[in-house]
Amino acid sequence: MSARVLAGPPVAAALLADAAARASRLPALPHLAIVRVGDDPASVSYVRGKARKAGEVGLRSTVHALPGATSQAELLDLIATLNRDDDVNGILVQLPLPAQIAEAAVLHAIDPRKDVDGFHPLNVGELWAGRPALTPCTPAGIMSLLAHYGIPVAGVRAVIVGRSHLVGRPLAALLLNADATVTVAHSRTHDLGAVTRGADLLIAAAGRPALITPEMVKPGATVIDVGINRVLSAAGKGHLVGDVHPEVASVAGALTPVPGGVGPMTVAQLLANTVHAAEMQVQAGAVGELVR
Ligand code: GUN
Repeated sequence: MSARVLAGPPVAAALLADAAARASRLPALPHLAIVRVGDDPASVSYVRGKARKAGEVGLRSTVHALPGATSQAELLDLIATLNRDDDVNGILVQLPLPAQIAEAAVLHAIDPRKDVDGFHPLNVGELWAGRPALTPCTPAGIMSLLAHYGIPVAGVRAVIVGRSHLVGRPLAALLLNADATVTVAHSRTHDLGAVTRGADLLIAAAGRPALITPEMVKPGATVIDVGINRVLSAAGKGHLVGDVHPEVASVAGALTPVPGGVGPMTVAQLLANTVHAAEMQVQAGAVGELVR
């Protein structure tokens, strides 16, 4: 038996079509500002992908590519300018940042109403309080994927492997808000397999290639693979692998592929968040009154 494949692209397409339709009903097309500092190849590629997809669905985007030696004060100046700019609805600062810049200082500086990553402490707090908030893109994308494929969440035992601020922690809040029974496991968890075998819904978000092996999975469980690990094959060619071993497909009931599973959901959710931010800003009145 092979697991049902939970493909990301059709779900991402539906989310993008909805975002595009909502964007077209706004007084101005939503505008996303993307800030990148330095030339980390993965960040360059991710930012290019986000800007391209924004254009494809009819959103406006501006990429601010700053040199790797940019100081924290210079980056905070740019964020203050973007916060004040009525024409900017969403702000994303691509992570990771160079060592001379404190990530927390930057994420705290973004106007929470333009925080399309959902990383500002106000949005983090609202999410954990179970109130509406701009929500981190990968976890929100996973929730859309589960809903699209009719995977039950309420009442199930969900185990998340990984406690990052980008994925594990916010996903725990979203699953809890959707009435799952949530366990967050991590690199210091004792007997990880005993914990993961209890999961009806297992989410691997540890950033460790093939960490989840077949004997760690309950037969019939739904397995969501968030890993995007670049590894070299024996022939020296680079390719992408997930956190889930391919043989898990013979045990799981349903499984997201890598690539083509969770990955496409992240960008789609970012653009949906940008439209949502713009809608809220329009609803709250003139954007100029909202920002400092
Ligand atoms: N780097 C890797 N993933 C993300 C993300 O979701 N948002 C931002 N801003 N940076 C990232």
